[in-house]
Amino acid sequence: MKFFLHIIDDEKTVAQSIKRVLQSSDREIEISNNADEAIKKAREKYFDLFLLDYRLGNSDGISLLKQLKEIAPDALYIIITAFGTIEVAVEAMKLGAFDFIQKNQNPEVMRFTVQRALDNLRLRKEVEEMRTSAICQSHLPSIIARSPAMKQVLEIADKFAETDSTILITGETGTGKNLLAEYIHQKSPRFMYPFTAINSCAIPSNLLESELFGYEKGAFTGAKINGKVGLIERSNHGTLFLDEIGELSLDLQAKLLHVIERQEFYRIGSVESKKIDVRIIAATNVDLQKMVEEKRFRLDLFYRLNVATIQLPSLRQRKEDIIPLTKLFIDEFNKRFNKHVTKLSDDVKNFLLNTPWNGNIRELRNLIERVMILIDGDSLTYEEILKAFNPFNLNNGQAANGFFNLNLLPQEGTNLIQKAQTELVRQALQKANGNRSSAARLLGIPRTTLNFYIEKFGITI
Ligand SMILES: Nc1ncnc2c1ncn2[C@@H]1O[C@H](COP(=O)(O)OP(=O)(O)OP(=O)(O)O)[C@@H](O)[C@H]1O
Ligand SMILES: [Mg+2]
Repeated sequence: MKFFLHIIDDEKTVAQSIKRVLQSSDREIEISNNADEAIKKAREKYFDLFLLDYRLGNSDGISLLKQLKEIAPDALYIIITAFGTIEVAVEAMKLGAFDFIQKNQNPEVMRFTVQRALDNLRLRKEVEEMRTSAICQSHLPSIIARSPAMKQVLEIADKFAETDSTILITGETGTGKNLLAEYIHQKSPRFMYPFTAINSCAIPSNLLESELFGYEKGAFTGAKINGKVGLIERSNHGTLFLDEIGELSLDLQAKLLHVIERQEFYRIGSVESKKIDVRIIAATNVDLQKMVEEKRFRLDLFYRLNVATIQLPSLRQRKEDIIPLTKLFIDEFNKRFNKHVTKLSDDVKNFLLNTPWNGNIRELRNLIERVMILIDGDSLTYEEILKAFNPFNLNNGQAANGFFNLNLLPQEGTNLIQKAQTELVRQALQKANGNRSSAARLLGIPRTTLNFYIEKFGITI
């Protein structure tokens, strides 16, 4: 990757010596000796990084920074000062400068600061490239799809997008069902019209009907005077996304089926139907077929929804996406929290690649967010990741339903096998109220073996 730098300093010798310090094969460096020249060049040519002198003849670096930011808003800016005062630094940072350097400092400091800025840019460019390789229209949500499984999903989604058929998206929690629904809408001929989403779980069932169908004035006590336009009506010509469709009551399932089959609906309190043109995308992370067998979901609606189905793979089934997703989230939180993380060490990558991610992409995103809030430097270290790691299963109680729970995290120099054995023995004794025979039975080992472990690890309860 080649970087274009622009040094702006009115002292020609100083500008030349900065250029010498920063010169390298992957950099092209221009020099301007006054503000006018700098602005002219910035208009004519693309630059990644500007290094501006704080005192520039009769103008100053700060007002030039403002002007340049209008011309090149995506570039990074470093202010060079003769005397590093806090006030200058604060002012420059407020205006969006990336950093500042003192002129008389060791050249290494300057090299390091510039390298850090360029690392930041490199990450940003990589993410941009990933985005554009996955999507070709700028208003589409960024969907990372490096893995074969996700590439296939997007291929199918693109095909479905062209049609008007109802779509059912299935997949574990956090696999990107909402995101994919939005993507399909944006790729469809309906993209100019509304995309509305409703989560059947998040709204009490008695309110869900009026949210979806709206009502006529005076339809029921407490109804608004002018009635209400429901989501179905608001999505006319667009797409309605029904999340957690399995949570819909049987009564609402029947009404929804009517909308799909007849392309019409009734506002609550109205006897006249209204024509509607809406594409429905539904999502679920439960097994609808099983719900049908249990008579909790209508078979006819299931058939209607199951015409075009997309199964989103879990993150475990698309490992190639893990690092690109991580980079996407780092980039997002760098911007959001004003951090400068650019490096991911190999042990962090290994950890990310081998974590089960039961909460899928949402879990990964939450982890990166937690780490990024705390981080100070430019690299995301293994220790920081471990500190912030909070396995999804233990969080939502799934694993806590197990009889024994081992909440263990890798730690350098800790023998986890031994820790697990100790923990199992301790929990068995606790559950058996200290009765060793029962505890041994719980663990499926002879009592003598249990005694051996108790002695060996010095376990007391
Ligand atoms: N392929 C992807 N590329 C980038 N970000 C993604 C991708 N898939 C999911 N995300 C992000 O992960 C998070 C979870 O995605 P989303 O809410 O769409 O999942 P979901 O399957 O609808 O979850 P739930 O079942 O809990 O409703 C969101 O922040 C989303 O932007
Ligand atoms: Mg969702």
